[in-house]
Amino acid sequence: MMMNAHVLPKQPVTGLDVAALRAQFPVLKREVHGKPLVYLDNAATAQRPASVIDAVSGFYRDYNANVHRGVHQLSAEASDAFEGARERVRAGVNARSTREVIFTRGTTEAVNLVAQSYLRPRIQPGDEILVSHMEHHSNIVPWQLLCEQTGAVLKVIPINERGELLVDELENLISDRTRLIGLVHVSNALGTVNPVQQVCELARKHDIATVIDGAQATPHVAVDVQALGCDFYCMSAHKMYGPTGIGALIGREELLEAMPPWQGGGEMITRVSFDETTYNVLPHKFEAGTPNIAGAIGFGAAFDFLNATGIDAIAEHEHHLLQYATERMQAIDGLRIIGTAEGKGPVIAFTLDGAHANDIGTIVDQFGVAIRTGHHCAMPVMQFFNVPATARVSFAAYNTTDEIDVFLNALETARTMLL
Ligand code: ALA
Repeated sequence: MMMNAHVLPKQPVTGLDVAALRAQFPVLKREVHGKPLVYLDNAATAQRPASVIDAVSGFYRDYNANVHRGVHQLSAEASDAFEGARERVRAGVNARSTREVIFTRGTTEAVNLVAQSYLRPRIQPGDEILVSHMEHHSNIVPWQLLCEQTGAVLKVIPINERGELLVDELENLISDRTRLIGLVHVSNALGTVNPVQQVCELARKHDIATVIDGAQATPHVAVDVQALGCDFYCMSAHKMYGPTGIGALIGREELLEAMPPWQGGGEMITRVSFDETTYNVLPHKFEAGTPNIAGAIGFGAAFDFLNATGIDAIAEHEHHLLQYATERMQAIDGLRIIGTAEGKGPVIAFTLDGAHANDIGTIVDQFGVAIRTGHHCAMPVMQFFNVPATARVSFAAYNTTDEIDVFLNALETARTMLL
């Protein structure tokens, strides 16, 4: 492998005690194909610390009961833990109140909720929805479905060759028919960190609603929904050390109040009769049926973990990993990094001349290295960069420069075998 003189030292200069942090993650002790696991697929899903696993299993073991429904002790304990988790999520992103925190299955369900409950009743044929070219399918397809249902039109905000949003082009695209802008905070396929605050300010000036996909932001940067100025913010617990199948929609209370319920069923009502049914108050109006109680409690524990570790220390450490890996990967013949935006998040997607991404992923797996390959649920990004797929390494707080070295050696083997 050709290497330039390295600028960055191996050891980060951050305050994060990575060895102590790693000890909190049981799965990091395991081996894969006889080699220590090197988990670099964190943008797909992060690993869970023991505190999150214990919070989930503790619910089932010690106080499993339904929430908001029973007068008995276990139900009271479960309800307290569930609502306590909601407060942790609220505080974690600085929402104004827990009435603004709707538990969903994740980011995807949150975006669908906004499409169907917020925008559908307000949109007319010919109205316009803007999304960026770097969106995940979860912030494209719900809007395409809505366009099919209503005759609205989806328009695309362009990006440049580095994978950066063209804000000037966005301004040109805005018309008096624009009703909503959907934008990813941190791109899963490119790592780009978008100027969310600027876009939301622009949208507000034109009275346009904003939906931010924060799935890849909350694990890596401090998120303050009030400072961002968005109308809706969506997130997934499993990207941020929490359980799968749980996430949240944060919405402005006045908008949520005015929206019809999303799904009907138990919990979201105050009174049901065949003559008239009235709906529950926020946030319960949007949480039909028995919720993912254990998941929500684990989600709260994930925020506790992030707070205890320190999001700024995590960001600094991950930035070091990103720079360390980027410098070395840039020196590899035939390797092209897809997504080179200024100030990007800890994601490196790449192609290697003459090698298919899936083959790279399969070979490095033999060395215990887990990376993602494919279109990353962002096919329009692949089309923009004219590649069928990329391989992607994505970092979390527990990753180390030693692990990056293992990956680079495995990648060199893949390169030798495939070329
Ligand atoms: N969208 C997730 C990823 O980027 C699954 O891998």
